[in-house]
Amino acid sequence: MRLLKGVGLAGVLIAMLLLFTVFFMGSVSGIGVNWGTQLTHPLPAATVVKMLKDNGFQKVKLFDADSSILNALRNSGIQVMVGIPNDMLNTLADSVQAAENWVAKNVSAHVSSNGVDIRYVAVGNEPFLETYNGTFEGITLPALQNIQAALIKAGLSNQIKVTVPLNGDVYESSTNIPSQGDFRANIRDTMVQIVKFLNDNGSPFTVNIYPFISLYDNPSFPADYAFFDGYSSPVNDDGRIYQDMFSANYDTLVWTLQKIGYGNMSIIVGEIGWPTDGDQNANIQSGQKFNQGFMSRYNAGQGTPMRSGPLDAYLFSLIDEDAKSIQPGNFERHWGLFYFDGAPKYQLSLTAGSNSLVGASNVQYLAQQWCVMSPSASLDDPQVALSVSYACAKADCTSLGYGTSCGHLDARGNISYAFNSYYQMQNQVASACKFPNLSILTQTDPSDGDCKFRIMINTPTVAGELSGVGSLQQPVGLLLFLFLLIFPIL
Ligand SMILES: *[C@@H]1O[C@H](CO)[C@@H](O)[C@H](O)[C@H]1NC(C)=O
Ligand SMILES: *[C@@H]1O[C@H](CO)[C@@H](O)[C@H](O)[C@H]1NC(C)=O
Ligand SMILES: *[C@@H]1O[C@H](CO)[C@@H](O)[C@H](O)[C@H]1NC(C)=O
Ligand SMILES: *[C@@H]1O[C@H](CO)[C@@H](O)[C@H](O)[C@H]1NC(C)=O
Ligand SMILES: *[C@@H]1O[C@H](CO)[C@@H](O)[C@H](O)[C@H]1NC(C)=O
Repeated sequence: MRLLKGVGLAGVLIAMLLLFTVFFMGSVSGIGVNWGTQLTHPLPAATVVKMLKDNGFQKVKLFDADSSILNALRNSGIQVMVGIPNDMLNTLADSVQAAENWVAKNVSAHVSSNGVDIRYVAVGNEPFLETYNGTFEGITLPALQNIQAALIKAGLSNQIKVTVPLNGDVYESSTNIPSQGDFRANIRDTMVQIVKFLNDNGSPFTVNIYPFISLYDNPSFPADYAFFDGYSSPVNDDGRIYQDMFSANYDTLVWTLQKIGYGNMSIIVGEIGWPTDGDQNANIQSGQKFNQGFMSRYNAGQGTPMRSGPLDAYLFSLIDEDAKSIQPGNFERHWGLFYFDGAPKYQLSLTAGSNSLVGASNVQYLAQQWCVMSPSASLDDPQVALSVSYACAKADCTSLGYGTSCGHLDARGNISYAFNSYYQMQNQVASACKFPNLSILTQTDPSDGDCKFRIMINTPTVAGELSGVGSLQQPVGLLLFLFLLIFPIL
């Protein structure tokens, strides 16, 4: 009896503690993360899923519906947003049957027998970016409608919602005052129809918000306003005070939705983050500062002046992607919380109880050797520029350049960096370190401070996918073309 009483009291205390925790943590759900796969050497899917779990991610957002990734997410307890690439929108908009096939193969099959917890289908990815020049404007809503119809037919529309991740540039406020927000004039009608459709189906509005891009695009953008540590000239919107761009941007969307009668629609932040290389504003310190600032708010359940409750968001992104297009800028390949090999870039408190990121386990690397410029080679050798441009075109030189991690290297350092990047990306095959009379192998790590000369990971399946191994004697015309293309970065 006494014992039971004791247990009872402890039980009550524990229950109270739990209730207290639940009350204050309330509906703060765990943070999500984007898992992009544009890598020359991707980690095995199972390794990445373990990273997701080890770091406490409860949600993951994908950009397509790769079956090996979905299989690895089986029974993981992680909620999944699968994606439909923009280049499939046309087919899916044209054909109900194509949409049904897509849902059958890429959703139903995984949900029913395989225990993948799919919650959302993202139809397209930022389809209304101005750079797409309206290509997807007329087909996004029909694709959305066909996928929704297919989910209904498959009996999945209650548990799985459709959405469209849109860039924050679909709405704007000419004065930068949130309450003045509205959809961009040239897509306003389309957006109103999409919002109505999403709302009618209980779907959220998904938006990607990028203070980094504001700073990158506009050198006079106030840097403090991009972060979460306060800003000396806050925006005052009728008594609502904005000290960070994220909140102002998010509330511009809230006002925009309110203006068309959907002020209560739920909002998912589909992408938020900061890159760590490839630009003077992209480095480890600013990446850590931005993401920690965001996570502190997120974990405190603190929203914005217009929506004070908890946020729903997916960090961008999990791992660096060395095969992404750098058309938007050299920073594109450096958004990860982790490097390409799953090594954490910095300390980050993702959940209330943790303060460090957990890296990938059991990663297999190639040998500890690097390809560098031979000490006996001359900078005046006419082959240098051609060789470097060739290497950079095939590999990744986005860490060279003003204000980047390797921006302080001298000319020889630059050349070595390019040679090594090519050599590692070609899986250290001997022929990839045969720049004519210019390159040698070394067992001494040439890394210099923050500038890391990487050793590639061992991914057995990629060997055949990379072109150009041993093809240093390409036609001179092509080399000259690449040279003209790449030379500006040297
Ligand atoms: C399923 O998704 C994959 C990856 O996005 C895509 O390549 C494939 O065409 C889809 N299957 C169908 C039947 O649409
Ligand atoms: C955008 O599309 C319009 C109409 O099709 C075309 O005239 C224009 O050249 C395009 N612009 C770009 C940058 O592609
Ligand atoms: C939104 O929700 C609030 C509180 O539940 C309610 O007062 C308001 O009328 C709703 N607005 C719309 C546009 O549905
Ligand atoms: C090395 O390359 C970077 C980026 O291309 C350039 O800014 C820098 O001037 C180069 N350094 C030398 C000494 O050539
Ligand atoms: C390499 O150097 C040797 C000796 O200096 C020279 O004979 C040869 O032509 C060079 N090869 C190339 C490809 O430049």
